Amino acid sequence: FPVVVLISGSGSNLQALIDQSLQGKLDINISAVISNKAQAYGLERAKAANIDTHVLDHKAFSSREEFDKKLQDIIDTYQPKLVILAGFMRILTEGFTKHFEGKMLNIHPSLLPKYKGLDTHQRAIDNNEKEHGVSVHFVSPELDAGAVILQASTAIEEGETAESLAAKVHSLEHIIYPLSVKWFSENRLSYESGKAYFDSSP
Ligand code: GRF
Repeated sequence: FPVVVLISGSGSNLQALIDQSLQGKLDINISAVISNKAQAYGLERAKAANIDTHVLDHKAFSSREEFDKKLQDIIDTYQPKLVILAGFMRILTEGFTKHFEGKMLNIHPSLLPKYKGLDTHQRAIDNNEKEHGVSVHFVSPELDAGAVILQASTAIEEGETAESLAAKVHSLEHIIYPLSVKWFSENRLSYESGKAYFDSSP
């Protein structure tokens, strides 16, 4: 089941996908990892796993449209059945999201629809939330607004910092992202008219 993973940073979610596929828990083939940042540590993780890597520096493009078109072309050469955004810190154009509609997932560190955008952990603490978490969702043109597939939550404890909360949320990410990808690869997830459907039949 060919997939392409897009990253901008550490790539711990990418690592979770690599590990689970090596362990035979996840039947995917990561054809390529693409980063918009040359320094992203996730590129090292990909190389260590013998995965093709590409760096596409958004600063080399004069518009979002041109960058997304080039990105789309690179992804399309691999003919993936799923595009996985794993810490890819770019706002995507409508054309790009339409092209991969129903076959592109993102993971966002909040219990959507709460806390779209950045600094989610600090904002949740500042608002005295009792809990926080992470969401896997299909990507739609509007940022962090696509249909949610799976969420996991954790308590915000007394004295919690953005760092301690981020660490707890990350460990949840590494469970629910591979699981969502597994469901998609098993054809148990579908997307229709902006909604996510889960097929629970055995
Ligand atoms: C994660 O917190 C994810 O929810 C967000 O970006 C971060 C990526 O972390 N979209 P990593 O690069 O996978 O370690």
